[in-house]
Amino acid sequence: MNKKISVLGFAGSLRKDSYNKAILRAAASLVPDDADLNIFDLEGIPPFNQDLEKEPPERVKDFKVKIRAADAILISTPEYNYSIPGVLKNSIDWVSRPYGDNALEGKPVAVMGASIGMLGTARAQYHLRQCFVFLNMYPLNSPEVMVPFVHEKIDKDGKVTDPKTLELMKKLLVSLIDWTLFLKTRSEIK
Ligand SMILES: Cc1cc2nc3c(=O)[nH]c(=O)nc-3n(C[C@H](O)[C@H](O)[C@H](O)COP(=O)(O)O)c2cc1C
Repeated sequence: MNKKISVLGFAGSLRKDSYNKAILRAAASLVPDDADLNIFDLEGIPPFNQDLEKEPPERVKDFKVKIRAADAILISTPEYNYSIPGVLKNSIDWVSRPYGDNALEGKPVAVMGASIGMLGTARAQYHLRQCFVFLNMYPLNSPEVMVPFVHEKIDKDGKVTDPKTLELMKKLLVSLIDWTLFLKTRSEIK
């Protein structure tokens, strides 16, 4: 039997009742049978200090190990001031260093996000996609999952109740697994 595709998901919010954490939990329950989705919480990752990049804090080391063990990455990002939240960028900066030891190198990645506003994190997602260029990641282009007015789509227990959102997230996961399998086949050819 083939090994399951392992996806590591993280949300760019530390908030206990974060909507972006909530959609990530929903994604974990929608993942196809041939895959697993494990969630890493960015809580405890300190501000990046380049003096420490060669011997980073334990939490960063742990994050890098989990990223390397994963076949693919799923990021759920809020939008802060039309861009990526500092906690998310900070965490990406840590795991991309030191130069030549970028844990995200060559990983397939999918993005989603939820906002209480009208554009559902679109601007933050495009800024995040810009980082993937230097990180040399392989982003999934479609579907784009931008969940606007998320407070109307999640119940008081943090469960996603909107069928269209759930359907779109399921499509994203299936596409990410297909994309990951495609890239794996390609790298076997090389
Ligand atoms: C510092 C800050 C900046 C924000 N900027 C934006 C923004 O530019 N666009 C937007 O749609 N929402 C913005 N919001 C609202 C967030 O979408 C909302 O707080 C969201 O719930 C954050 O994600 P979370 O629930 O996963 O923590 C901002 C919130 C904060 C705290």
